[in-house]
Amino acid sequence: MDRREVLKASLASAAAMGISARRAISPDIDSPAELHSSAVTGEVVAQPPLVNLYDFEAAAKRKLSGSAWEYFSGGSADEITLRRNREALDALQLKPRVLVDVTQIDTSSTLLGYKMEHPILLAPTSSHLLAHPDAETATARGAAAAKAIMVASTVSNRSIEDICKSASEPIWFQLYVEDDRSAVRALIERAEAAGCKALCVTVDNPLPYARNREERVRALAPMLPFPNLGIEAGPGGRSRSRRHFNWNDLLWIQSFAKTPVILKGILNPDDAEEAVHRGVSAIVVSNHGGRVLDTEPATIEVLPAVVDRVAGRLPVLFDSGIRRGTDVLKGLACGASAVLIGRPYIYGLSVAGADGVRDVVNILRAELEGAMAMTGRTHLTEIDRSVFWKSRDFSS
Ligand SMILES: Cc1cc2nc3c(=O)[nH]c(=O)nc-3n(C[C@H](O)[C@H](O)[C@H](O)COP(=O)(O)O)c2cc1C
Repeated sequence: MDRREVLKASLASAAAMGISARRAISPDIDSPAELHSSAVTGEVVAQPPLVNLYDFEAAAKRKLSGSAWEYFSGGSADEITLRRNREALDALQLKPRVLVDVTQIDTSSTLLGYKMEHPILLAPTSSHLLAHPDAETATARGAAAAKAIMVASTVSNRSIEDICKSASEPIWFQLYVEDDRSAVRALIERAEAAGCKALCVTVDNPLPYARNREERVRALAPMLPFPNLGIEAGPGGRSRSRRHFNWNDLLWIQSFAKTPVILKGILNPDDAEEAVHRGVSAIVVSNHGGRVLDTEPATIEVLPAVVDRVAGRLPVLFDSGIRRGTDVLKGLACGASAVLIGRPYIYGLSVAGADGVRDVVNILRAELEGAMAMTGRTHLTEIDRSVFWKSRDFSS
């Protein structure tokens, strides 16, 4: 994937949505979006270029309502884990390799029997209507354009049937297991009938936990439709209790689910061990992007211990805080089979709809290829912990 081509597309889609992206990474990009005249003075106005995921975040912040911004960007309590996700990824230092022929870089791999062009999935996130009028159906189109699997949230503003109809890449269904078992069963059957290829059961938030930023602006937030649940509610759509859900309920789900069952929100290696024993198909090491138990570690810190405990018995995926291709590389190096991004693609959706979702994934993918090239890896299978320095004095 050519980074210059990716950026050209990103400039064009941002411009189409009225976000001017002037003279981005390369001065010879001849996009009509490069320059933007002020309607008042006629002067050429420089706007921040959208060349990475942080640029999309900044542009989304300018565009979203205050309550939508707080909902999407916030974490729980003091946001210590939210920050730590980034700090821990930044702190890992990569070890370059030079003079490796990187003419061909292959980012493909197979996950649960599906051949992926690249290892970046869209994590389940709620309330896309706050970001774009087409909500999750636009996200599904963007995911398809970027050849990415989308995990559609239970608490989407479009029905799982509509999301699947808009998609041409696989959709997995993220399930919140509420206490009403018949409703849970009906929802799983609906998702499978709609064509979802896997069930991603989220296990890390049995009760809502202090999302203070969101709570302060809740009164200003709109009511949204949540057709999978048949309710209207504020952002996040939480309405019914999920306190009861336990390992035995999981067994019950596995007894009738026709699609692979994945657990999302595992940090503790003992829970990973239990997941293996319970015969789940994969796990996602996730702290919900710092939105659940504050002061738990960054996911990249615990990933190696979980991978070591699982010892290849099932695929381990990883999310929370990924913003750069080097972050993807670091996750894969720690043993993840694939990674998921949450907020960044919501920001892409806010800025440029389906095209913005596509651009965010493509930028990340192009960065991953760059990081692979500079660490001398041409296939995902070559990425292991030797991409990190072993000793603090950099002698090995
Ligand atoms: C606004 C928002 C809504 C989310 N909604 C859900 C959800 O409905 N179900 C779920 O399992 N995880 C949800 N998550 C967590 C994401 O799936 C993912 O774990 C997290 O966003 C990854 O971190 P990142 O945003 O730093 O990439 C949500 C995250 C955000 C930011």
